[in-house]
Amino acid sequence: MASRKEIIGATHDFHNQDYAIDWEARYRDHTNRQILFRDIGDLIQANLNKNATILELGVGPGFLAHDLLNRFDNITYVGLDFSKAMLHVANKRLRSFADRFLAVRADLTGEFTTSLHTNSVVVTCWSLHDLGSAAAIRHVYSRCRNILDGILINADFIRPVGTEYEYESGRIASEDHLEMLRLLNYENVQVTKSYEVDVGKPTAANNYTCLFAEYRSKTE
Ligand SMILES: C[S@@+](CC[C@H](N)C(=O)[O-])C[C@H]1O[C@@H](n2cnc3c(N)ncnc32)[C@H](O)[C@@H]1O
Repeated sequence: MASRKEIIGATHDFHNQDYAIDWEARYRDHTNRQILFRDIGDLIQANLNKNATILELGVGPGFLAHDLLNRFDNITYVGLDFSKAMLHVANKRLRSFADRFLAVRADLTGEFTTSLHTNSVVVTCWSLHDLGSAAAIRHVYSRCRNILDGILINADFIRPVGTEYEYESGRIASEDHLEMLRLLNYENVQVTKSYEVDVGKPTAANNYTCLFAEYRSKTE
């Protein structure tokens, strides 16, 4: 159990090949994430057009990509990550989807871009908190408006309401995410579900939430 003085969070070495392989092994059979992936798939299904492109920010070892490519026959999938080591693991996992999966190396703190069709999907899971600040998350939400005409799903660690613990600076309250998205003119902004909520016994791997928003390029 965390002590009250502990800051809830984790340090990573995503560019290190052994670390990437170890991270993949740690989360390969994570039951609650399988539920999360199914829920993300359901949200996408309800909003998906045939032949849509899904862009995943921080694709990591490609777990979610594998689920979604398996579930939706007609989609193409762009997996963006700044770690060559993670992209290598993802490419290996997604070998059988090579005709529909494209790995892109880019840094989310920079001017990343890609072209997406109308009714596209941007999804990200357990990644944006790693950018280390609310400002960096806001930057990503803002960049996504340049490429998105469709839905954005961000499933990420948050600072739960009522906590007495300190959290690393990228773990912000759900309400702060929602406010940022609203201020950027996203619509239908909401929390769809929270996972492994434990305010009293926080760890680096519980208290995560799925956020949903829509952005239609015609909006502004
Ligand atoms: C905790 S892992 C999650 C991976 C995957 N989304 C999942 O849930 O299985 C976070 C991922 O985000 C990537 N990442 C972190 N900071 C990044 C940045 N500034 N630009 C691009 N990718 C980044 C890491 O390399 C890593 O693959």
